[in-house]
Amino acid sequence: MNIVRKTLLSLVVAGFGLSVVQTAVAIDNSVAEKRAPTKEELAKPTNVVIEANNSLFADKYPKQYESWASTAKSTEIVPAIEVDPRLIVMWGGYAFSKEYNKPRGHFYTVTDVRNILRTGGPLDANSGPQPMACWTCKGPDVPRLINEWGEEAYFTGKWAKGGAEIVNSIGCADCHDTTSKDFAEGKPALRIARPHVLRALANINKEFAGLDKTDQRAAVCANCHVEYYFDKKNVNNVVFPWMKGVDVDSIEKYYDETEFYDWIHSISKAPMLKAQHPDYETWLQGTHGKNGVTCVDCHMPKVQGADGKVYTDHKIGNPFDAFEHTCANCHDQSKETLQKVVEGHKKDIKQVMLKLEDQIVKAHFEAKAAWDAGATESEMKEALKAIRHAQWRWDYSAAGHGGHMHSPDIILKVIATGLDRIADARTQLAIILTKHGVQQPIKYPDVSTAEKAWKVMGIDIEKERADKEKFLKEIIPQWNKEAIEKGLIPEAPPAK
Ligand code: HEC
Ligand code: HEC
Ligand code: HEC
Ligand code: HEC
Repeated sequence: MNIVRKTLLSLVVAGFGLSVVQTAVAIDNSVAEKRAPTKEELAKPTNVVIEANNSLFADKYPKQYESWASTAKSTEIVPAIEVDPRLIVMWGGYAFSKEYNKPRGHFYTVTDVRNILRTGGPLDANSGPQPMACWTCKGPDVPRLINEWGEEAYFTGKWAKGGAEIVNSIGCADCHDTTSKDFAEGKPALRIARPHVLRALANINKEFAGLDKTDQRAAVCANCHVEYYFDKKNVNNVVFPWMKGVDVDSIEKYYDETEFYDWIHSISKAPMLKAQHPDYETWLQGTHGKNGVTCVDCHMPKVQGADGKVYTDHKIGNPFDAFEHTCANCHDQSKETLQKVVEGHKKDIKQVMLKLEDQIVKAHFEAKAAWDAGATESEMKEALKAIRHAQWRWDYSAAGHGGHMHSPDIILKVIATGLDRIADARTQLAIILTKHGVQQPIKYPDVSTAEKAWKVMGIDIEKERADKEKFLKEIIPQWNKEAIEKGLIPEAPPAK
């Protein structure tokens, strides 16, 4: 096909190699023993040397550094749960219902994890709602600490323990072996420095060291843009649930078999799953992933510097902003045409996604009404499982923000199966409610604004905000001071 020929041509010209047309991603599940690591395995040393201080690379690689630093231009914070208060109900009892924003530039990872209400206002290293694992996708200080402390010690303890250490936002050593001879010579020397990511890739038969350049380019994004969970049975370490595959059914099956849940829903009491940005997984299943067109082809194109030399643009953002160097390398259509196609997918997906959300919100309230009317655990079990599955499917499709671009057909299918499961839940709940003499439809509370939804769900948002203010005023300056004195960063991360 025309597209493919043009693809090959452009890639050869850009010096990428010939790996674009590869076969569909076959995920071979034949390897034995796919499971979360044990405590003993986490105690092994990693021996990966990390220079986490991003500022040290500015002089040697000014073009890569400046384009990397320009991710700071993506400043906008979109408060997703205020835009769509249904999310406050769906995440009832889980910290996401306090604050959840759409992603912005990599430059802000440290700033944003400090500022978000989800991490609370811990006033010492041993308090606060979150574990250390919450730092894991925030920057190169993470693999540095894993190397210095060991994996088990890194994951043990509260989030605030890492505050004065994890201070560089996503940077060079997250993706490159900056200590290698290749990197010193200006070659990419891509590397995965987080042991849990190497393990997860091995579980889908993509051992990093054995991957070709194309797969390695996508794998560096899989450090973070993936579904994961915290292994509560161990030291709350990060694990990717890919033991049976990366599609929505395989992951659900793994979670069901291990009886894992992220939290118990505050009103329906369902054992819930929170999906986290499965961008890598949905991309793998989409047209581009199957054709070996990687994240880097679209989000980090090769461009020409003022000196005429080609380099990799490190300003990771919306690929349409660099259309001539991204889509146009392979597609003949105009920017407007392709943008319309993508917007069309987005609109279609949003429309059905909202229908699924409406049903899930109702089901949580119906389950509460059933409990209130005296329903028993055994009566409720299957209905709650169906709510769990439906919301898992909704979240898998919603949490990957580029899903409408990366894999629109997969996302639509996931939503459709979510609608099927929520219909199961509501049918069962209707039977239980009738049995207990509850008239239907039940009275659903008004959750049309975030303020109303927080109230209904019992969240004291003013208190949450006050705790955060105090933390930002009293603790953050200490963290910054300590990190600067240790030479980890030249200056404090931006406050906002
Ligand atoms: C999110 C991952 C990521 C981060 C962060 C990152 N890079 Fe890169 N870098 C890449 C990728 C991907 C390539 C291209 C690899 C390829 O072409 O195979 C690349 C290429 C390079 C190259 C090779 C020459 C070129 O331009 O293609 C250099 C040098 C480089 N990066 C330096 C840096 C420096 C310095 C930083 C920190 C300021 C940095 N990178 C941060 C992913 C990253
Ligand atoms: C070390 C973890 C990590 C790695 C590696 C990483 N990301 Fe991210 N990425 C994040 C986090 C966290 C955010 C959200 C940052 C925020 O909102 O503060 C993000 C945000 C983004 C965004 C939104 C940017 C914007 O301006 O809205 C895009 C696009 C993105 N990443 C693509 C990529 C691609 C492509 C790669 C691989 C080349 C990659 N990321 C590698 C963690 C990572
Ligand atoms: C074929 C091109 C292409 C590939 C391949 C691709 N992306 Fe994207 N991605 C896009 C486009 C275009 C958008 C923005 C869609 C829009 O404008 O609505 C996007 C959006 C995103 C977003 C959401 C950004 C935001 O601010 O909401 C993230 C995160 C992201 N991509 C990460 C990745 C990762 C990680 C990979 C690889 C696993 C990847 N992308 C592969 C084209 C691509
Ligand atoms: C490196 C080459 C390459 C790049 C870059 C690329 N594409 Fe593609 N694109 C392909 C290939 C190959 C196919 C599959 C063609 C086929 O199977 O007929 C495809 C298919 C598509 C399709 C149809 C399938 C679908 O998922 O709906 C759309 C739409 C599309 N690309 C949009 C984009 C956009 C938008 C960008 C830039 C953000 C982009 N592509 C960047 C190579 C590329």
